[in-house]
Amino acid sequence: MQGNKMLEELNIPKHVAIILDGNGRWAKSKGMPRNYGHIQGAKAVEVICEEAYKMGIQYLTVYAFSTENWNRPKDEVEALMKLLRNYLKTCLKTAEKNRMCVRVIGDKSQLDEDIRRRIGELEEATRDNDGLHFQIALNYGGRDEIVRAVKSLVRDTVAGAVRVEDISEESLGDILDTKGIPDPDLLIRTCNEQRISNFLLWQLAYTELYFTPVAWPDFTKEELVKAIEAYNMRDRRYGLVKGE
Ligand code: IPE
Ligand code: IPE
Ligand code: MG
Repeated sequence: MQGNKMLEELNIPKHVAIILDGNGRWAKSKGMPRNYGHIQGAKAVEVICEEAYKMGIQYLTVYAFSTENWNRPKDEVEALMKLLRNYLKTCLKTAEKNRMCVRVIGDKSQLDEDIRRRIGELEEATRDNDGLHFQIALNYGGRDEIVRAVKSLVRDTVAGAVRVEDISEESLGDILDTKGIPDPDLLIRTCNEQRISNFLLWQLAYTELYFTPVAWPDFTKEELVKAIEAYNMRDRRYGLVKGE
């Protein structure tokens, strides 16, 4: 891609979701500990938030910690939680500057109390911002999200607040963590893996998938443009639906 003129000609997806992968392999390839990869990965998230919004992307969702990631070695989980604490602090400042509206999706109830408090403050402080809608998936699993939604639906049905005949794709979508957020148009996964790893199972039904060998800490604006160019080459039969 040469210059901004061509970027202007591209159809920019409204919502981009990213499975940021390869932090550990990236660090290892440099003879560094995995955590160094996570630190650089967090920096890449900040850069991409800014670049995505400049390009006209309205919603960006990143997979930061999955329900399965608790199974990693204790040291790594602790290091990730520490990094998350710092990241949430930085994110509050960045969000104020960029007018970003931040929402955390996933089961927050399993996170430490101080992390939940920081998330609450961040969501509250940024809720009316009119910039990028930035979703961070933390202790997120697509199956877990659906199970939580089904439980709440069954409770409401038993209590007589919802009639079984009234349950629809729309009403179920409205009790998922992503309520009010349009489904992703484009999913990017970095570092050569070609699977969904329990991310946004319901929401990705018609999303275009893009895989790149680039490891997440090396993911730049140029790589994002490449993904959008590939998205523009697809024959989107289903994409231009709801709200467009
Ligand atoms: C992605 O990088 C970040 C998280 C899942 C937290 P990885 O930690 O999965 O890195 P690899 O896949 O082992 O290289
Ligand atoms: C997916 O990456 C989860 C996140 C990016 C947070 P993983 O590296 O944990 O996924 P698998 O284990 O390779 O499927
Ligand atoms: Mg990985």
